[in-house]
Amino acid sequence: MQSIIDTLTSTVAATHAEDLRAAFAADPQRFSRFSASLDDLLMDYSKCAVNDDVLEQLEQLLVTAGVAEKRDEMFSGAPINFTEGRAVLHTALRNRSNRPVMVDGRDVMPDVNGVLEAMGKFADGIRSGELKGATGKPITDVVNIGIGGSDLGPVMATLALSPFHDGPRLHFVSNIDGAHIADTLKALAPETTLFIVASKTFTTIETMTNAQTARAFIANAIGEAAVGHHFCAVSTALDKVAAFGIDASRVFGFWDWVGGRYSIWSAIGLPLMIAIGPDHFGDFLAGGHAMDEHFRKAPFRQNLPMLLGALGVYHRNVLGYQTRAILPYDQRLSRFPAYLQQLDMESNGKSVTIDGKPVHGASGPVVWGEPGTNGQHAFYQLIHQGTSVIPVEFLIAANGFEPELRHQHELLIANCLAQSEALMKGRTLTEAKSQLTAKGVAGEEADFLAPHRVFSGNRPSITIVYEQLTPYTLGRLIALYEHRVFVEGVVFRINSFDQWGVELGKELATGLLPVVQGKVAATGHDSSTVGLVSALAERRQV
Ligand code: F6P
Repeated sequence: MQSIIDTLTSTVAATHAEDLRAAFAADPQRFSRFSASLDDLLMDYSKCAVNDDVLEQLEQLLVTAGVAEKRDEMFSGAPINFTEGRAVLHTALRNRSNRPVMVDGRDVMPDVNGVLEAMGKFADGIRSGELKGATGKPITDVVNIGIGGSDLGPVMATLALSPFHDGPRLHFVSNIDGAHIADTLKALAPETTLFIVASKTFTTIETMTNAQTARAFIANAIGEAAVGHHFCAVSTALDKVAAFGIDASRVFGFWDWVGGRYSIWSAIGLPLMIAIGPDHFGDFLAGGHAMDEHFRKAPFRQNLPMLLGALGVYHRNVLGYQTRAILPYDQRLSRFPAYLQQLDMESNGKSVTIDGKPVHGASGPVVWGEPGTNGQHAFYQLIHQGTSVIPVEFLIAANGFEPELRHQHELLIANCLAQSEALMKGRTLTEAKSQLTAKGVAGEEADFLAPHRVFSGNRPSITIVYEQLTPYTLGRLIALYEHRVFVEGVVFRINSFDQWGVELGKELATGLLPVVQGKVAATGHDSSTVGLVSALAERRQV
């Protein structure tokens, strides 16, 4: 496998990759040859430095890495998260075909459907006002308390699908910083507020601490007995939820074969379901399922997740690009880059292979981004003229939800396409000079100014186009990126489904709390930590 990467690397170095301007000039069919679709969802990768030879080698790389076999293992419920001895079955949560999915000899689909039905009943009860607060008032505000995978998905998706939002207002509290919950509660009335405590493990310090603060908010205002009416929970740890005091009828479970960052499809999606209703939530699941079927069946050159994964490896491992920018030209996808940061970097930010050896070469890139057009006025300068090449991924809908603002959507589309064209084409010194000449600047002054106006071009971008950001499309987009991360993880030969790298910080924080509280001396810590503890202590108000 590494030999294919090495061959690709040396071929590309020898040929200076594909010159994109020349490639487009030579081949009027380049767009259709290097784009693929699933219904209205189209991915154009013709502005990446690929040709048929590169794609053949990338396909060979995925074959050699055993991506298809690993994919089938994942879908079949094999314990591919081997460091935790778990299956990886977020795909079962959106398995609208109801094909049996076996874990330890048992079909998980009846349990999946059972929880979905219970969520639907609860969501409908809250949405219709049938389920009320302790004083008989309907719920107007729902606060999801969770962090990481128990927060980022619901936050991102609730914003993304705001045109479908016809339930109570949604709020999200994640940070241990008391400012987050304090600012959220300020605007809320206890009698009409429902809290969802969302935690796979039900031990996460941020979530448990915020849940206690929320509990006090209810108990202090309308009494301890009211708490049960204003809380529900989502977790795999049902015993711990019971200990917190939430009634079993208000607890929605999921299973250890659902990773936190893959859990939006499970009961973790409850806030989204309350916002948009069970039917639209069903469309969201159907979108994810459609992408699963596509990933399982489509041949390489038509398979969006396989292609996106292969291009990711090409950019990271062959061309050596260290980051990738996700730039949705869709304001409602403004939290999508943050969502993908956890999905991608918590999954593929690893340096040990499945055999316990150091990863050869690079694993996952840094993922970052912001919506366009805002980013154009902030960091695009570096993407166009900086010294690092940053492959970018644009996302754009053909239609917005505001027919009266059609002209704004046209401007949005024009900006998105202009950016990818500019990155590809660039501007040569000659072009820069003639542009200056046309503006009346000539001679030495033009020679002096022109280099500052040169864009190297040949900078890669992928553009993903869809008809409209519906629940179904959002489901397809998330599943597309999940499977892309999977494909890359298989090529890197890592376990994409554990996250030991977040543990050390948690352990040290637990040890440092009594030091910060002044109960224990800071001895044993490094001098920087000791210095910072005392600097903060000196500045703390009593
Ligand atoms: O710290 C990382 C992490 O374990 C994530 O993987 C997870 O999504 C998040 O914390 C929250 O965990 P939980 O849902 O168990 O509270």
